[in-house]
Amino acid sequence: MALWGGRFAGDASAMFKQVNDSLPFDYVMAAEDITGSIAWSKGLVRAGVLNDQEQQDLEACLRALLEQVEAGSVDFSASGEEDIHSFVEAYLTDKLGDLGRKLHTGRSRNDQVATDFRLWCKRHLAGLKHDLINLMDALLKCASRHDGVIMPGYTHLQRAQPVLFTHWCLAYNEMLKRDITRIDDCVNRLNQSPLGCGALAGTTFAVDREQLAAELGFAGPCLNSLDAVSDRDFVLELLFCASTGMMHLSRMAEDLIFYNSGEAGFLQLSDAVTSGSSLMPQKKNPDALELMRGKCGRVFGHLQGLLVTMKGLPLAYNKDMQEDKEGAIDAVNQYHICLCIGSEVLDGLSVNQDATRKAAQQGYANATELADYLVGKGVPFRTAHDISGQAVVRALAKGVALEELSVDEFQSLHPQIQDDVYPWLELEAVVSKRNQPGGTSHAMVTQALYVEHEYLDKL
Ligand code: ARG
Repeated sequence: MALWGGRFAGDASAMFKQVNDSLPFDYVMAAEDITGSIAWSKGLVRAGVLNDQEQQDLEACLRALLEQVEAGSVDFSASGEEDIHSFVEAYLTDKLGDLGRKLHTGRSRNDQVATDFRLWCKRHLAGLKHDLINLMDALLKCASRHDGVIMPGYTHLQRAQPVLFTHWCLAYNEMLKRDITRIDDCVNRLNQSPLGCGALAGTTFAVDREQLAAELGFAGPCLNSLDAVSDRDFVLELLFCASTGMMHLSRMAEDLIFYNSGEAGFLQLSDAVTSGSSLMPQKKNPDALELMRGKCGRVFGHLQGLLVTMKGLPLAYNKDMQEDKEGAIDAVNQYHICLCIGSEVLDGLSVNQDATRKAAQQGYANATELADYLVGKGVPFRTAHDISGQAVVRALAKGVALEELSVDEFQSLHPQIQDDVYPWLELEAVVSKRNQPGGTSHAMVTQALYVEHEYLDKL
């Protein structure tokens, strides 16, 4: 049943309904629409529009519907209603007759949808934060399981300097921590209630907007009715949180895909998150990781899509804004799935420490060390860098590691290089010397891991 009758003589066409109806996707806000309606019914009592009995009857009916929604027993599609707001109103009118027809007094679907969607975003941002905490937990456990494992660190995908695997885990932990605070910021900003702003200009009924906001768990009411019904920044911010979070996941996935490659051979992934090939019996493909990487495309697309939809829209509400939902719903869903599968990947992952150690020993990842050694002997760093580069060329020509050059060979490059250079070039020493805060030494990483466990426990 349409929410307007008086002004119209003809019915909407089937094609118009297809372009216009949002119930096929906005039914996901059913719980929020019902909670918002209960709060509104109380506001109407304060405004003298409903008496206590009427409010109680409306609330009981709305709560009965909420129970069915939560049980998953409502068939939304059978109703033919336009959106979740008209669906709930039609349900009330069907059950309560004229009383159901009173609820929309002083309210517009414009403040209603803005309220519902803010509540929906809040609920799902809390869920995503929970998923992020679980992933951090999996990451820190994975880090602890691999205590002391040394692997090559890369720049330009070239072996650069050795790092602890735990240090790599803690790098992603930092990103996840920022993703969580980004969600907190987003929630803080969206935490205002549009309810009581009407279609655009505010409502004439004394519903007490402060009280409405408090009942719905918002920090307070939105301060401008035109802005309240037309703002979708909060959806954009949610999409940015999801996009940045997915970008982090995709980088972690890419690192692990590379570490898992036959060429690197650093990792074992569990059977639970990999698949085989229909043709090549030897294959074990990192599909879960590839999808964590691949699903970024659609999530970034949803952010871009809504930015373009919102650009240049005149105040206040326009139907274009109904396009805010499908992308956000999909982005939340995909990000949620990727955070969960990320935890599973980390839970079942084991590092082949002989392979990572061997790789860290190759590729002249200790060349910086030779330069630093010369700096210790009073040679200017730029000169030391040059000599170390020449040592690499010499070792490359012989097909050996730096530490396999003899003292004579070293001394032909610089007389200050002596026997005591060899302990400097050892893998353990290279790692242990990076002992300033934020560095990869065993001591720093052990301390950081402790601090991060404590941080996680407080979340
Ligand atoms: N389904 C609509 C949406 O999601 C609800 C608001 C409709 N308001 C209106 N004036 N037609 O945006």
